[in-house]
Amino acid sequence: MQIFGVDIGGSGIKGAPVDLDRGDLAQERCKVLTPHPATPDGVADGVRQVVEHFGWTGPVGLTFPGVVTDGATVRTAANVDKSWIDTDARALFSERLGGLPVTVVNDADAAGVAETHFGAGRGRKGTVILLTFGTGIGSAVFTDGVLVPNTELGHLELDGHEAEKRASSKVKDDHDMSWEHWGHRVKKYLAHVEMLFSPELFIIGGGVSRKAQKFLPYLDGLRAEIVPAELQNNAGIVGAAMRAAEDHGQRAAD
Ligand code: BGC
Repeated sequence: MQIFGVDIGGSGIKGAPVDLDRGDLAQERCKVLTPHPATPDGVADGVRQVVEHFGWTGPVGLTFPGVVTDGATVRTAANVDKSWIDTDARALFSERLGGLPVTVVNDADAAGVAETHFGAGRGRKGTVILLTFGTGIGSAVFTDGVLVPNTELGHLELDGHEAEKRASSKVKDDHDMSWEHWGHRVKKYLAHVEMLFSPELFIIGGGVSRKAQKFLPYLDGLRAEIVPAELQNNAGIVGAAMRAAEDHGQRAAD
């Protein structure tokens, strides 16, 4: 079965049809630049371009970098235009896509769903936490494979600041930090999350997961196992399609 997945990020809007049996893209993905400011109208236009590129006419799952309730309504917008708050994103995207059935999900939750099913968290019991390090820090918390949605652990306080303002990969880049310096901050953050949740496994996602060997050595001394994400750039697209399949699977193309 195939469903279309779209990942809305700070720099790009990326999408492709997803093969849900393999948990992988069925075709090479298409990417357009995220407009700045990233307003609902501008982003919806970018989404339309990506979906139209494939002539897709079935259900579409989309990620969003903020809290999303009921697969529809955006509740927070830490790193995107504030006019998103309380927008019915499902209605907006569906209307812009000519009435296609749409599901919207938090970006880290989507990546976590894909990783626990097809990637680094496959078959793992107990508490598993995926953290994505990018413009912000996203989180997805699972117990025995079941997601607790919209956990927002990137906004926990660390040293008197929001954790994502201390330890995101954007902060590393903006301050030209060494892997060691950044690694120590991430370790302190993980220790804090571990104190609260005692997970068996941390999965580290986001662009940095490709460079895990550069910082994993600094994340020693925690009880939990720590592994890089496996689906890397495609986790959001795959996870968004999986969530849309739960909502609209009966209308999918075989
Ligand atoms: C947002 C989260 C999002 C994360 C990663 C945070 O600022 O509040 O909802 O998952 O960034 O994009």
